[in-house]
Amino acid sequence: MSSTYTAPAKINLSLRVLGKRDDGYHNVDILMARLDLVDTLDFHNSRTTTLLCDTPGVPTDESNLVMKAVREFEKAYGRKAKQKITLTKNIPHGAGLGGGSADAAITLRACNEIIGTGYSDEELHTMASALGSDVPFFLNPVISRCTGRGEIVEPVPELAEWRSPIVLIKPQFAVSTPSAYKLLRGAHRIKGVNYNAQMVDGIKFVNELERAVFTKFPVLGFSKMWLLGQPGVRAALMCGSGSTLFALTETIEQAQAVAEAARAELDPTLWTYCGYVN
Ligand code: C5P
Repeated sequence: MSSTYTAPAKINLSLRVLGKRDDGYHNVDILMARLDLVDTLDFHNSRTTTLLCDTPGVPTDESNLVMKAVREFEKAYGRKAKQKITLTKNIPHGAGLGGGSADAAITLRACNEIIGTGYSDEELHTMASALGSDVPFFLNPVISRCTGRGEIVEPVPELAEWRSPIVLIKPQFAVSTPSAYKLLRGAHRIKGVNYNAQMVDGIKFVNELERAVFTKFPVLGFSKMWLLGQPGVRAALMCGSGSTLFALTETIEQAQAVAEAARAELDPTLWTYCGYVN
């Protein structure tokens, strides 16, 4: 018997960096929301644990966060999970969309359900935070405020029903999260790029990693300004540590038009996605 799970991408509606900590991480204040863009993970009982994924560039060895999640689960369980896992990637890598973190969180939840270990949300949360700062959010991906290094997750009930059409654009290059935080030192503002908070539906859209990442990749800053000039765009921002940018639109048709125009006017090799946030 096999069980199929979906792991959603996220965007940060807001990401504020509060300061560097002694452990090398940064304290953050993040408003996180899921997208309808998902990876799928298929679990099948087996003699050993293996990971299959036919997307080029995605490792299937112990370095994949899915395998790390299995090992974290096994550490608590004290036995082997014995799952054949087939991962279908739709969320691009190095994009600031949390794809690896989502896959890891869903793997913990799936192992808990399939093996019937009955670990509480709190116990799963402990395993998730050991895997990465963004992982705990994906255990219950409702709009949440994430603080600490990102692992302290509190749902925001006032925003539970909020939803918007969205377009994502991502250039071919990736940005790693550690490099984005490292770039904060020595970052400057590019003339003509707007970093200010944008108010939409009472939500303050801002990303304080933009300054760092745009200093190294100015094209992302200029592309954000291009997005802000498109018909129907209500806000535009970088996703997490990049390299994806998102724009909220009034309608899904406007999101599709922006994606098409981006490939025609900015870069024909852009990866694009149109859908909904939350
Ligand atoms: O927690 P995660 O493994 O996703 O973090 C990857 C890296 O990103 C960390 O090693 C750190 O360099 C940086 N980071 C940070 N502050 C955070 C989250 C991540 O400096 N709140």
